[in-house]
Amino acid sequence: MTYASIDEVQTALASEDYICGRALATVVYLGLELGRPIFLEGEAGTGKTEIAKVIAASLGRRLIRLQCYEGLDAASAVYEWNFAAQMMAIRMAEQGGVDQAELQRHLYSDEFLVARPLLEAMQPQPGGAPVLLIDELDRTDAPFEAFLLEALSDFQVTIPERGTIKAESPPIVILTSNRTREVHDALKRRCLYHWVDYPDFDRELEILKARAPEAAETLSREIVAFVQRLRGEDLFKKPGVAETIDWAKCLLALDVVNLSPETIVDTLGAILKYQDDIQELQGSEAKRLLDEARSDLAS
Ligand SMILES: Nc1ncnc2c1ncn2[C@@H]1O[C@H](COP(=O)(O)OP(=O)(O)O)[C@@H](O)[C@H]1O
Ligand SMILES: [Mg+2]
Repeated sequence: MTYASIDEVQTALASEDYICGRALATVVYLGLELGRPIFLEGEAGTGKTEIAKVIAASLGRRLIRLQCYEGLDAASAVYEWNFAAQMMAIRMAEQGGVDQAELQRHLYSDEFLVARPLLEAMQPQPGGAPVLLIDELDRTDAPFEAFLLEALSDFQVTIPERGTIKAESPPIVILTSNRTREVHDALKRRCLYHWVDYPDFDRELEILKARAPEAAETLSREIVAFVQRLRGEDLFKKPGVAETIDWAKCLLALDVVNLSPETIVDTLGAILKYQDDIQELQGSEAKRLLDEARSDLAS
Protein backbone atom coordinates (compact mmCIF):
# COMPACT_ATOMS: atom_id res chain seq x y z
CA MET A 1 0.00 0.00 0.00
CA THR A 2 1.24 3.49 -0.82
CA TYR A 3 -0.36 6.94 -0.76
CA ALA A 4 -3.66 7.51 -2.54
CA SER A 5 -3.08 11.20 -3.29
CA ILE A 6 -0.77 14.15 -2.80
CA ASP A 7 -2.91 15.29 0.13
CA GLU A 8 -2.49 11.90 1.71
CA VAL A 9 1.30 12.20 1.42
CA GLN A 10 1.09 15.46 3.36
CA THR A 11 -1.20 14.11 6.08
CA ALA A 12 0.68 10.81 6.44
CA LEU A 13 3.99 12.61 6.82
CA ALA A 14 2.47 15.20 9.17
CA SER A 15 1.33 12.40 11.45
CA GLU A 16 5.03 11.49 11.70
CA ASP A 17 5.80 15.15 12.53
CA TYR A 18 7.19 15.90 9.10
CA ILE A 19 5.89 19.07 7.45
CA CYS A 20 5.95 18.65 3.71
CA GLY A 21 5.17 21.39 1.18
CA ARG A 22 2.93 20.71 -1.81
CA ALA A 23 5.79 20.54 -4.35
CA LEU A 24 7.77 18.00 -2.35
CA ALA A 25 4.63 15.97 -1.61
CA THR A 26 3.91 15.88 -5.35
CA VAL A 27 7.37 14.52 -6.13
CA VAL A 28 6.98 11.86 -3.43
CA TYR A 29 3.54 10.87 -4.71
CA LEU A 30 4.72 10.63 -8.32
CA GLY A 31 7.92 8.80 -7.42
CA LEU A 32 5.95 6.09 -5.67
CA GLU A 33 3.19 6.02 -8.27
CA LEU A 34 5.58 5.72 -11.23
CA GLY A 35 8.22 3.67 -9.45
CA ARG A 36 10.89 6.30 -10.10
CA PRO A 37 13.76 7.13 -7.74
CA ILE A 38 13.41 10.48 -5.97
CA PHE A 39 16.45 12.74 -6.01
CA LEU A 40 16.52 15.36 -3.25
CA GLU A 41 19.15 18.05 -3.33
CA GLY A 42 19.61 20.93 -0.93
CA GLU A 43 21.59 22.48 1.88
CA ALA A 44 22.37 20.42 4.97
CA GLY A 45 19.67 20.22 7.61
CA THR A 46 16.69 20.81 5.34
CA GLY A 47 14.99 17.46 5.97
CA LYS A 48 16.21 15.29 3.07
CA THR A 49 17.35 12.31 5.10
CA GLU A 50 14.45 12.63 7.50
CA ILE A 51 11.79 12.37 4.80
CA ALA A 52 13.06 8.92 3.78
CA LYS A 53 12.81 7.74 7.40
CA VAL A 54 9.35 9.21 7.74
CA ILE A 55 8.07 7.68 4.48
CA ALA A 56 9.29 4.25 5.65
CA ALA A 57 7.64 4.71 9.05
CA SER A 58 4.34 5.93 7.63
CA LEU A 59 4.12 3.04 5.12
CA GLY A 60 5.33 0.43 7.60
CA ARG A 61 8.28 -0.41 5.35
CA ARG A 62 11.79 -1.22 6.31
CA LEU A 63 14.34 1.58 5.81
CA ILE A 64 17.62 0.47 4.28
CA ARG A 65 20.27 3.15 4.27
CA LEU A 66 23.36 3.35 2.15
CA GLN A 67 25.49 6.12 3.62
CA CYS A 68 27.85 7.32 0.90
CA TYR A 69 31.43 8.31 1.59
CA GLU A 70 34.58 9.00 -0.38
CA GLY A 71 35.98 5.74 -1.72
CA LEU A 72 32.74 3.76 -1.38
CA ASP A 73 32.91 1.03 -4.00
CA ALA A 74 30.32 -1.22 -5.58
CA ALA A 75 31.48 -4.26 -3.63
CA SER A 76 30.84 -2.79 -0.21
CA ALA A 77 27.51 -1.36 -1.32
CA VAL A 78 26.15 -4.68 -2.60
CA TYR A 79 27.63 -7.69 -0.82
CA GLU A 80 30.79 -9.19 0.61
CA TRP A 81 31.90 -12.73 1.24
CA ASN A 82 32.77 -13.59 4.80
CA PHE A 83 36.33 -14.68 4.01
CA ALA A 84 37.28 -15.63 7.54
CA ALA A 85 34.32 -17.98 7.87
CA GLN A 86 34.99 -19.42 4.41
CA MET A 87 38.59 -20.17 5.41
CA MET A 88 37.37 -21.96 8.52
CA ALA A 89 34.99 -24.03 6.46
CA ILE A 90 37.80 -24.99 4.08
CA ARG A 91 40.01 -26.06 7.01
CA MET A 92 37.25 -28.18 8.44
CA ALA A 93 36.48 -29.70 5.06
CA GLU A 94 40.15 -30.64 4.64
CA GLN A 95 40.04 -32.54 7.91
CA GLY A 96 36.67 -34.14 7.27
CA GLY A 97 37.35 -35.15 3.67
CA VAL A 98 34.31 -33.36 2.22
CA ASP A 99 33.59 -33.64 -1.50
CA GLN A 100 35.10 -30.73 -3.53
CA ALA A 101 31.94 -29.86 -5.45
CA GLU A 102 29.94 -29.95 -2.25
CA LEU A 103 32.46 -27.63 -0.60
CA GLN A 104 32.26 -25.17 -3.52
CA ARG A 105 28.50 -24.96 -3.22
CA HIS A 106 28.69 -24.57 0.51
CA LEU A 107 31.28 -21.78 0.35
CA TYR A 108 29.02 -19.61 -1.82
CA SER A 109 25.83 -20.27 0.11
CA ASP A 110 23.87 -17.69 2.11
CA GLU A 111 25.81 -18.74 5.19
CA PHE A 112 28.86 -16.82 3.95
CA LEU A 113 27.15 -14.05 2.02
CA VAL A 114 27.08 -10.70 3.80
CA ALA A 115 24.36 -8.61 2.19
CA ARG A 116 25.08 -4.88 2.03
CA PRO A 117 22.33 -2.24 1.51
CA LEU A 118 21.80 -2.60 -2.24
CA LEU A 119 21.45 -6.37 -2.13
CA GLU A 120 19.23 -6.18 0.94
CA ALA A 121 16.97 -3.72 -0.84
CA MET A 122 16.47 -6.19 -3.71
CA GLN A 123 15.35 -8.94 -1.36
CA PRO A 124 11.75 -9.39 -0.19
CA GLN A 125 11.07 -7.69 3.15
CA PRO A 126 8.23 -8.05 5.61
CA GLY A 127 5.69 -5.26 5.07
CA GLY A 128 6.53 -4.85 1.38
CA ALA A 129 9.33 -3.37 -0.71
CA PRO A 130 11.68 -1.39 1.51
CA VAL A 131 12.65 2.27 1.30
CA LEU A 132 16.23 2.46 0.03
CA LEU A 133 17.90 5.67 1.15
CA ILE A 134 21.10 6.45 -0.75
CA ASP A 135 22.30 9.28 1.43
CA GLU A 136 24.75 12.06 0.54
CA LEU A 137 25.55 10.78 -2.91
CA ASP A 138 27.74 13.83 -3.54
CA ARG A 139 30.36 12.29 -1.28
CA THR A 140 31.10 9.44 -3.69
CA ASP A 141 32.72 9.58 -7.11
CA ALA A 142 31.73 9.18 -10.77
CA PRO A 143 32.46 5.43 -11.08
CA PHE A 144 30.13 4.71 -8.19
CA GLU A 145 27.43 6.85 -9.77
CA ALA A 146 27.77 4.90 -13.01
CA PHE A 147 27.40 1.68 -11.09
CA LEU A 148 24.31 3.00 -9.28
CA LEU A 149 22.76 4.12 -12.52
CA GLU A 150 22.87 0.53 -13.72
CA ALA A 151 21.64 -0.99 -10.47
CA LEU A 152 18.73 1.46 -10.35
CA SER A 153 17.73 1.05 -13.97
CA ASP A 154 16.77 -2.63 -13.68
CA PHE A 155 16.73 -3.12 -9.91
CA GLN A 156 19.01 -6.08 -10.07
CA VAL A 157 22.49 -6.95 -8.90
CA THR A 158 24.84 -9.66 -10.08
CA ILE A 159 26.97 -11.86 -7.87
CA PRO A 160 29.34 -13.80 -10.15
CA GLU A 161 29.28 -16.93 -7.98
CA ARG A 162 25.52 -16.86 -7.66
CA GLY A 163 24.05 -15.18 -10.70
CA THR A 164 21.69 -12.24 -10.95
CA ILE A 165 19.30 -11.29 -8.19
CA LYS A 166 16.33 -9.21 -9.26
CA ALA A 167 13.95 -7.42 -6.93
CA GLU A 168 10.47 -8.93 -7.09
CA SER A 169 9.00 -5.60 -6.10
CA PRO A 170 11.41 -2.70 -6.60
CA PRO A 171 12.33 -0.65 -3.53
CA ILE A 172 11.23 2.95 -3.04
CA VAL A 173 14.50 4.76 -3.76
CA ILE A 174 15.41 8.14 -2.30
CA LEU A 175 18.76 9.72 -3.14
CA THR A 176 20.05 12.80 -1.37
CA SER A 177 22.84 15.24 -2.10
CA ASN A 178 24.11 18.21 -0.12
CA ARG A 179 25.51 19.49 -3.42
CA THR A 180 29.15 19.68 -2.45
CA ARG A 181 29.58 18.77 -6.13
CA GLU A 182 27.24 18.26 -9.07
CA VAL A 183 25.85 14.77 -9.50
CA HIS A 184 25.98 13.52 -13.08
CA ASP A 185 23.06 14.29 -15.41
CA ALA A 186 22.56 10.67 -16.43
CA LEU A 187 21.71 9.66 -12.88
CA LYS A 188 19.52 12.70 -12.29
CA ARG A 189 17.60 11.97 -15.48
CA ARG A 190 16.52 8.60 -14.11
CA CYS A 191 15.01 10.31 -11.09
CA LEU A 192 12.34 12.80 -10.17
CA TYR A 193 14.24 15.82 -8.90
CA HIS A 194 13.39 18.26 -6.13
CA TRP A 195 15.44 21.06 -4.63
CA VAL A 196 14.74 21.12 -0.88
CA ASP A 197 14.98 24.75 0.12
CA TYR A 198 14.97 26.32 3.57
CA PRO A 199 11.34 26.62 4.67
CA ASP A 200 9.67 30.02 4.84
CA PHE A 201 8.58 31.51 8.17
CA ASP A 202 5.19 29.82 8.37
CA ARG A 203 6.41 26.37 7.46
CA GLU A 204 9.41 26.56 9.78
CA LEU A 205 7.14 27.61 12.62
CA GLU A 206 4.94 24.62 11.85
CA ILE A 207 8.00 22.33 11.88
CA LEU A 208 9.15 23.76 15.18
CA LYS A 209 5.71 23.21 16.71
CA ALA A 210 5.82 19.60 15.55
CA ARG A 211 9.37 18.93 16.72
CA ALA A 212 9.62 21.09 19.84
CA PRO A 213 6.01 21.38 21.04
CA GLU A 214 7.18 22.34 24.54
CA ALA A 215 8.25 25.79 23.28
CA ALA A 216 5.73 28.59 23.85
CA GLU A 217 4.26 30.35 20.83
CA THR A 218 6.02 33.70 21.43
CA LEU A 219 9.43 32.12 21.86
CA SER A 220 8.94 29.86 18.82
CA ARG A 221 8.01 32.82 16.67
CA GLU A 222 11.05 34.79 17.82
CA ILE A 223 13.35 31.85 17.18
CA VAL A 224 12.06 31.29 13.67
CA ALA A 225 12.04 35.00 12.77
CA PHE A 226 15.62 35.29 14.01
CA VAL A 227 16.85 32.24 12.11
CA GLN A 228 15.09 33.45 8.95
CA ARG A 229 16.94 36.79 9.27
CA LEU A 230 20.19 35.02 10.06
CA ARG A 231 19.97 33.06 6.79
CA GLY A 232 19.91 36.37 4.95
CA GLU A 233 23.36 37.23 6.33
CA ASP A 234 26.59 36.48 4.54
CA LEU A 235 27.57 33.36 6.45
CA PHE A 236 29.97 30.55 5.68
CA LYS A 237 27.34 28.00 6.76
CA LYS A 238 23.72 28.97 7.19
CA PRO A 239 21.69 27.24 9.88
CA GLY A 240 19.36 24.46 8.72
CA VAL A 241 16.04 23.41 10.20
CA ALA A 242 17.87 20.95 12.41
CA GLU A 243 19.72 23.88 13.99
CA THR A 244 16.49 25.80 14.58
CA ILE A 245 15.09 22.83 16.50
CA ASP A 246 18.31 22.30 18.44
CA TRP A 247 18.45 25.94 19.36
CA ALA A 248 14.86 25.93 20.62
CA LYS A 249 15.69 22.94 22.83
CA CYS A 250 18.76 24.70 24.22
CA LEU A 251 16.77 27.83 25.01
CA LEU A 252 14.08 25.74 26.70
CA ALA A 253 16.70 23.99 28.81
CA LEU A 254 17.84 27.44 29.94
CA ASP A 255 14.26 28.51 30.74
CA VAL A 256 14.46 31.36 28.25
CA VAL A 257 11.08 33.04 27.70
CA ASN A 258 12.10 35.75 25.24
CA LEU A 259 15.21 36.19 23.13
CA SER A 260 17.73 38.82 24.15
CA PRO A 261 21.06 39.72 22.52
CA GLU A 262 22.85 38.15 25.49
CA THR A 263 21.08 34.78 25.35
CA ILE A 264 21.58 34.71 21.59
CA VAL A 265 25.32 35.27 21.88
CA ASP A 266 25.59 32.68 24.66
CA THR A 267 23.80 29.98 22.66
CA LEU A 268 25.12 30.67 19.15
CA GLY A 269 26.93 27.33 19.15
CA ALA A 270 23.59 25.61 18.61
CA ILE A 271 22.94 27.42 15.30
CA LEU A 272 26.34 28.37 13.91
CA LYS A 273 29.14 25.85 13.61
CA TYR A 274 31.99 28.01 12.32
CA GLN A 275 33.97 30.36 14.48
CA ASP A 276 34.04 33.05 11.75
CA ASP A 277 30.23 33.04 11.61
CA ILE A 278 29.96 33.17 15.40
CA GLN A 279 32.44 36.07 15.43
CA GLU A 280 30.20 37.99 13.00
CA LEU A 281 27.36 37.91 15.47
CA GLN A 282 29.24 39.29 18.45
CA GLY A 283 28.72 42.82 19.74
CA SER A 284 25.88 44.81 18.24
CA GLU A 285 25.13 42.39 15.38
CA ALA A 286 22.97 40.04 17.47
CA LYS A 287 20.93 43.02 18.65
CA ARG A 288 20.51 44.38 15.12
CA LEU A 289 19.27 41.02 13.82
CA LEU A 290 16.96 40.56 16.77
CA ASP A 291 15.48 44.02 16.20
CA GLU A 292 14.95 43.17 12.54
CA ALA A 293 13.34 39.84 13.46
CA ARG A 294 11.02 41.57 15.93
CA SER A 295 9.96 44.11 13.32
CA ASP A 296 9.25 41.23 10.91
CA LEU A 297 7.00 39.73 13.56
CA ALA A 298 5.22 43.02 14.21
CA SER A 299 4.42 43.62 10.56
N1 LIG B 1 10.03 19.46 6.94
C1 LIG B 1 10.41 19.03 8.15
N2 LIG B 1 9.52 18.60 9.06
C2 LIG B 1 9.91 18.18 10.27
N3 LIG B 1 11.19 18.15 10.69
C3 LIG B 1 12.14 18.57 9.83
C4 LIG B 1 11.80 19.01 8.52
N4 LIG B 1 12.94 19.36 7.89
C5 LIG B 1 13.94 19.13 8.74
N5 LIG B 1 13.48 18.65 9.93
C6 LIG B 1 14.27 18.36 11.12
O1 LIG B 1 15.62 18.62 10.83
C7 LIG B 1 16.42 17.48 11.14
C8 LIG B 1 17.55 17.36 10.15
O2 LIG B 1 17.07 17.01 8.92
P1 LIG B 1 17.87 16.04 7.95
O3 LIG B 1 16.87 15.25 7.22
O4 LIG B 1 18.91 15.31 8.69
O5 LIG B 1 18.58 17.09 6.98
P2 LIG B 1 19.39 16.82 5.65
O6 LIG B 1 19.40 15.36 5.39
O7 LIG B 1 18.70 17.63 4.62
O8 LIG B 1 20.76 17.37 5.94
C9 LIG B 1 15.49 16.31 11.14
O9 LIG B 1 15.91 15.32 12.04
C10 LIG B 1 14.18 16.92 11.59
O10 LIG B 1 14.13 16.95 12.99
MG1 LIG C 1 21.10 14.17 5.37
